[in-house]
Amino acid sequence: MKEGPDPGSASAPEAGDARGGGYRRVLLVGLMGSGKTTVGTRLGELLGWEFLDFDDAVEEAAGRTIPEIFREDGEASFREMEARVGAELLERSRVVLASGGGWPAAPGRMVDLAPDTLSVWLRVSPEEAVRRIRAGDVVRPLLEDVDPVTRARELLAVRRGRYAEARLTLDTEAGSAEDLARTIAETIHSSARSRERSR
Ligand code: S3P
Repeated sequence: MKEGPDPGSASAPEAGDARGGGYRRVLLVGLMGSGKTTVGTRLGELLGWEFLDFDDAVEEAAGRTIPEIFREDGEASFREMEARVGAELLERSRVVLASGGGWPAAPGRMVDLAPDTLSVWLRVSPEEAVRRIRAGDVVRPLLEDVDPVTRARELLAVRRGRYAEARLTLDTEAGSAEDLARTIAETIHSSARSRERSR
């Protein structure tokens, strides 16, 4: 499942990637429409961990919606809030986190994640991402474009390298949200088992 010459076939990361301590949080990354909220909510249920979304936390802190923040203050201001909120949420344990699609794009974000964070890239094609977004009711200011598919392709081209720094890559068009959540839960459980064994 790790990105590589044959995406979808490689195995999950070694539990030892968490350096014997077990994973304490999951961070889902990927393009808008990749299913971070759907998979994250289900994964939280499976693990008994809280699911928290960076965008919700930004909206709560700002007392405004994301489109309002973009419209009134601009993207740069949104990115500052997102950075602050993200850093706070990444301190928490036993949580499933969904970053906004643009959070991993800033230099160092993915490589600087703590070793007890299981980062997961939920891969989706730009075409499928736009289809899913059109079927939903959440406004994404960056895709309010005459040609959202081209815009999504551009965003993915810029961000792909950062997303690929995640420990685990899952193709969201190859399995259901339930399958994806179960695969991630199994990685967490096997890291916990290996921690037990090493005690
Ligand atoms: C953005 C993604 C959105 C939200 C904002 C910008 C991006 O989050 O943070 O509209 O830059 O890709 P989702 O990926 O949760 O939709």
